[in-house]
Amino acid sequence: MNQTVTDILKSNNTPFYIFDEKGFIDNYQLLESTFKAIYPNYQVCYSYKTNYTPYVCNLVKALGGLAEVVSDMEYTLAKRIGYSNDKIVYNGPSKGEMAYEHLLNGGILNIDSLDEAKRIVRFCEAHPEHNFSIGIRINLDLGGNFISRFGLVLGHDDLNVACNLIKRTPNLTLVGLHCHISRARGLDAWAKRAEIMLRAADELIDGTPKYISLGSGMFADMPSYLKEQFGGNEVPTYNDYCNACIKKIANHYSNSGQKPTLFTEPGTTVVARYFSFASRVLSIKNIRGRWIANMDGDYHNLGEICTMKKLPTSIIPMGLPQKFYNNVDIMGFTCLEQDVMVPGWQGHLAQGDIIIFENVGGYSIVSKPQFIKPQSPIFVKRSNGDIVQIARAETFDDVFNKFCFDF
Ligand SMILES: Cc1ncc(COP(=O)(O)O)c(C=O)c1O
Repeated sequence: MNQTVTDILKSNNTPFYIFDEKGFIDNYQLLESTFKAIYPNYQVCYSYKTNYTPYVCNLVKALGGLAEVVSDMEYTLAKRIGYSNDKIVYNGPSKGEMAYEHLLNGGILNIDSLDEAKRIVRFCEAHPEHNFSIGIRINLDLGGNFISRFGLVLGHDDLNVACNLIKRTPNLTLVGLHCHISRARGLDAWAKRAEIMLRAADELIDGTPKYISLGSGMFADMPSYLKEQFGGNEVPTYNDYCNACIKKIANHYSNSGQKPTLFTEPGTTVVARYFSFASRVLSIKNIRGRWIANMDGDYHNLGEICTMKKLPTSIIPMGLPQKFYNNVDIMGFTCLEQDVMVPGWQGHLAQGDIIIFENVGGYSIVSKPQFIKPQSPIFVKRSNGDIVQIARAETFDDVFNKFCFDF
């Protein structure tokens, strides 16, 4: 990666992102082949919200993955990438008007609430010449105090009413079930997910479902420095997830002539590790014993993970004499006290050096606000070694063109 960064630096200033295409493809194919070995009807649906860089979305399409979207904006992107509706999964509690166009064109759509079921039933009644199919998101209760806001609860009135409404609508069929929960990446949670979804499939769907989507929230292999912070060897592999979860689905349908397509919706799982962010040290100073390095990037550039874990970093020395720092907070360009990119960093550093922050592909590019400075450019190191720019830096006009200047 350092060689790549040095090459980019010859013609570009910091900060910027770098996408490792080969790493992404290898990991994607490992996930797919591991799950397909146990359940051949397995299908990846890439979570656009995690990182909708069009280059990545296009790569997923080339690899055979579907698009998982949760807004009209993401749906429009999937169409622009070239997906037909039957390869787009439209989820989420706040779908736009295009959800109806999606349904009319045979798209996959999972409802989140009874109110949404009622809206869709009304739409189907207004289009009696068409046959429609939908799925329902099942709320996951994996124990503990956390109450997820998504989906409908198995055994609860709202779900039963929604199912009855769908059954009473002659041109609408319930064909699939969906779930997802974040921050439950362990094997026990995945085993429970399979049990809940199989129970839901048996109770709610006549015959075999067309699909079951298990959502996402799965660990992938990661740099060892990060892995140690997640408990080292306790981080499951794709094989472990297969044994805990996918096998349960395979066993359940082993004697069934028809088998549902099994989706997962990986976001961070497939993309986090393959983006890095290069940013320059602008100053290093000491305030009442606290060492601070100020950078030209910020914590939004790195995504939420930098608020929970210390990201792996590497340094490209740029020529000024370095000093060893035992405990320096690497801070971003915003004027926020909480803009800590890495707390308590240790190593040799000088003003002007470049820090490469690894594992920043999830919820970073999509979550960076136009706050104080616009977004940075993105480069890809392609599988053949070429380095190509895939997004330019945002400009003043990108930020201010939408405002009215006629006062
Ligand atoms: C419905 C759904 N699917 C998939 C994902 C992606 O999850 P992850 O980034 O953990 O892979 C999310 C993330 O919030 C989601 O809400």
